Amino acid sequence: MHQSKDIALKNPNAFNGEVLELDSETTAGEKKVFIESYGCQMNFSDSEIVASILSEAGYKTTSQLNDADLILVNTCSIREKAEQTVRKRLEAFQGVKKTNPNVKVGVLGCMAERLKSAFLEEEKIVDLVVGPDAYKDLPNLVAEVEAGRDAVNVILSKEETYGDVQPVRLQSNGVTAFVSITRGCDNMCTFCVVPFTRGRERSRDPKSILEEMNTLAEAGYKEVTLLGQNVDSYLWYGGGPKKDFAKASALQQKTAVHFHQLLDLVAQAHLGIRIRFSTSNPQDMTRDVLHIMAKHSNICNYIHLPVQSGSNAVLKAMNRQHTREEYMELIDAIKRIVPDCGISQDMIAGFPNETESDHEDTLSLMEYVNYDFGFMFMYSERPGTPAAKNLEDNIPQEVKKRRLQEIVAMQQKHARYKNDQFIGKTVEVLIEKESKKSDAQWSGRTQQNTVVVFPKEHYAVGDFVDVTVTSCTSATLLGQAVDFGPTQSHHHG
Ligand code: SAH
Ligand code: F3S
Repeated sequence: MHQSKDIALKNPNAFNGEVLELDSETTAGEKKVFIESYGCQMNFSDSEIVASILSEAGYKTTSQLNDADLILVNTCSIREKAEQTVRKRLEAFQGVKKTNPNVKVGVLGCMAERLKSAFLEEEKIVDLVVGPDAYKDLPNLVAEVEAGRDAVNVILSKEETYGDVQPVRLQSNGVTAFVSITRGCDNMCTFCVVPFTRGRERSRDPKSILEEMNTLAEAGYKEVTLLGQNVDSYLWYGGGPKKDFAKASALQQKTAVHFHQLLDLVAQAHLGIRIRFSTSNPQDMTRDVLHIMAKHSNICNYIHLPVQSGSNAVLKAMNRQHTREEYMELIDAIKRIVPDCGISQDMIAGFPNETESDHEDTLSLMEYVNYDFGFMFMYSERPGTPAAKNLEDNIPQEVKKRRLQEIVAMQQKHARYKNDQFIGKTVEVLIEKESKKSDAQWSGRTQQNTVVVFPKEHYAVGDFVDVTVTSCTSATLLGQAVDFGPTQSHHHG
């Protein structure tokens, strides 16, 4: 998942650092919660679970900060900057508390998990601290807070997937939705705080995933993104952690559902819905997944495949379980098995001990792949991670910055090149919303996840439209709908 607004080029899922203010119908006399989310898509998805759990405790969501009885901020720890953003927001909430002393403030998500009860001392205005696996305890915790006591639950779980919680879709366009399929991560990349804040990896029962898909289909949704920190390692065999799979019964092993099988099931069950997934980890992505993508036209030809570095020495120090060469082989396989597949990256500039030649390796890997877009960051040391414990953050800030700029410049060049290739072609676009720049234009995305803007004509949000691309910038395609006429129904794929 994409987690920062540091630099996000051509970012169609531009949730990075954006504030999501949740709103559903509010009735007078009821208690109201205002929820803000930062960070990855999983956090936005979790906030929909939180809204659902709190509705059972009598809370309705509000988009009006000053109306709220409870303010919740779902936080991100991935880089220091993400935490600073949240601290600044908490200062703003302090102002709200001055005018309304009864309002309670809660911190959810990764910062809650990382800082635990220390948060209550560090930030005097915080009344409630709840980690990502403890949301079902929110009704109890909120009752504590209402009674004037501070409340903390940061217990991580090996089982919790919230598979039984029906998310309340918030600030939704009614067209695209997230469905979480795994939680946590066991990969232990040395720079990454996620395994510590989100705990062990676990997979959700495919039955509950399919049920959630059915609900979305009935409500008219047209695109679903299956979410997890590491979706390729999804595995369901009737319970138990993945590491015990070898010890499972013969029947359990035979009936187990791996990620490519889940994709197959979901795509088959909902031919009218576009399927996306995020995030893929190169070491865990199988060729089976590529073949399932090729088999179903409603699985989008798009893979977010973070690599972090093009240097074998750096990949090793990051504990990424693949080499540069293996990654290139995977890229070759994608290009062969899923032609026209959009590919995006995450990169980190200035990891400890990164040399100029390591950095050159990153640039040359980028030249090899020609990514459609990417999310690029300067290394940010996170307390408690293996890199923080074992490696000195020894690349000077100016060097990190310069390397990042070079990576970004190359990405911009490639994005422009990729977009140029679409000029004159006709692409399938799912309309999501009105263009930000013009109320006469729609904005949607191609399968490859590139944003397309075109004149509205008689089309509506949620329509699949064939659009001929006429021009582009490095971030957006501009085009014109190919009209099939009002009587001819158009099925994508
Ligand atoms: N597997 C996850 C990765 C989450 S972190 C997923 O679902 O996408 C998202 C990206 O943030 C990572 O791919 C990495 O490029 C970046 N990142 C993580 N930790 C970082 C750190 N300490 N400093 C800089 N960037 C980091
Ligand atoms: Fe983090 Fe690596 Fe997992 S980047 S979320 S530890 S795959």
